Amino acid sequence: MTPSAAADAADPWNTYGRSRASDDRARGTSGRLFWDWYQRIGPGAEILGDVAGKNVADLGCGNGRQAAHVAEVLGAARVVAIDASPGQIARGRDLYGHVGALHFVHADASTALQAAPDSLDVAYSYFGAPDFTDPRDLLPVVARSLHSGGMFVMATLAHYTIGRPAETEVRPGTIRVRHDNGTTSSMDRWVLDALVWERLLGEAGFTGLALDVLRDPGFDKRPPMATLLIRGTRG
Ligand SMILES: C[S@@+](CC[C@H](N)C(=O)[O-])C[C@H]1O[C@@H](n2cnc3c(N)ncnc32)[C@H](O)[C@@H]1O
Repeated sequence: MTPSAAADAADPWNTYGRSRASDDRARGTSGRLFWDWYQRIGPGAEILGDVAGKNVADLGCGNGRQAAHVAEVLGAARVVAIDASPGQIARGRDLYGHVGALHFVHADASTALQAAPDSLDVAYSYFGAPDFTDPRDLLPVVARSLHSGGMFVMATLAHYTIGRPAETEVRPGTIRVRHDNGTTSSMDRWVLDALVWERLLGEAGFTGLALDVLRDPGFDKRPPMATLLIRGTRG
């Protein structure tokens, strides 16, 4: 196995990201933003407020399609698209490297944000880093990365994908991920009840919290899914 094939096989998000790349390429940066799991219902870009001319970060950007939309269509001055997966960042650069205001950063979200405190107007995540990182560590770092009054938006699971209710304590569940070489591994996923997120965000320094559940009844053979859409402001 070549060094790059070995790195791809070890990257837990490479197989997932590649499965979405052709769809992302076909969709380009146009269309609209979605926050729900199936990307077909609910509010869109208005949730971010007017981001024209603002500094924005996407935490766990994946292939970067949302970040490219925020930069190119919504007119943000600078969008930092952060992801810990080398495969996701490489695909993002390939797909959207032409978008001038978009900057891909291959890093853990906490590490990248800690390097630039008080620098952001808006930070958001669409099932990204906050879903896979201990929120007691990440949320205070997100708060400190924002200007006072800056906004944080995150879309996360309101229940496990198999329908099991979210955790009512601060503890992760375990999910299986498939690698390029056919093996699987497990990782933590933080699927927390809305009241738990509300408490953690308050402790991290966010105010004006709004937590909404976007319910999709499912379609074809896809099960019902509920997305928890959370907004807060750095106090
Ligand atoms: C389910 S994918 C979602 C990606 C993207 N937001 C999308 O909609 O396609 C989760 C992404 O979060 C990234 N991620 C998870 N933990 C992270 C962390 N601590 N820092 C940066 N990225 C992280 C993964 O590498 C992966 O690309």
